Amino acid sequence: MEAHIIKFAKHGDVRGALVVVEGIKDIPFEIKRIFYIYDSDSTVVRGQHANRKSEFLLVCVSGSCKVKTDDGRGKQDIFTLNNPNEGLYIPKLVWKDMYEFSSDCVLLCLSSENYDANEYIRDFQVFLNEMGE
Ligand code: TYD
Repeated sequence: MEAHIIKFAKHGDVRGALVVVEGIKDIPFEIKRIFYIYDSDSTVVRGQHANRKSEFLLVCVSGSCKVKTDDGRGKQDIFTLNNPNEGLYIPKLVWKDMYEFSSDCVLLCLSSENYDANEYIRDFQVFLNEMGE
């Protein structure tokens, strides 16, 4: 599977909008971890890693940011996240850079795995080498 945008139903009524993301049902994995990024800005680049095990869903619940993905096999994509009722699904073994954060950006990240620093690949050449094996 490639990195791709998943649109979620919006349960809106006069009281406002509500978006639901359920593991397996709405995204391709069971959710084990959530974290969120805020107070980043347009000058920083985050991410800059690939994961050997973790899959992610990234939702910009406020503001906007960009995500560049690279599958290590020649496919690169740039996604703009600026809509709280869609998310970017990123499979394991995809390099990702997050950047151009708006000042009000809150990037919600759902993951299939608990945090394990050892499954993060933080050297692009090591990533390419592993993908070439
Ligand atoms: P980092 O992976 O550099 O964040 P990003 O991918 O957004 O650039 O993580 C920043 C710090 O937070 C780093 O010291 C590791 C720690 N961290 C955890 O302890 N648990 C987690 O689930 C995550 C994502 C990060």
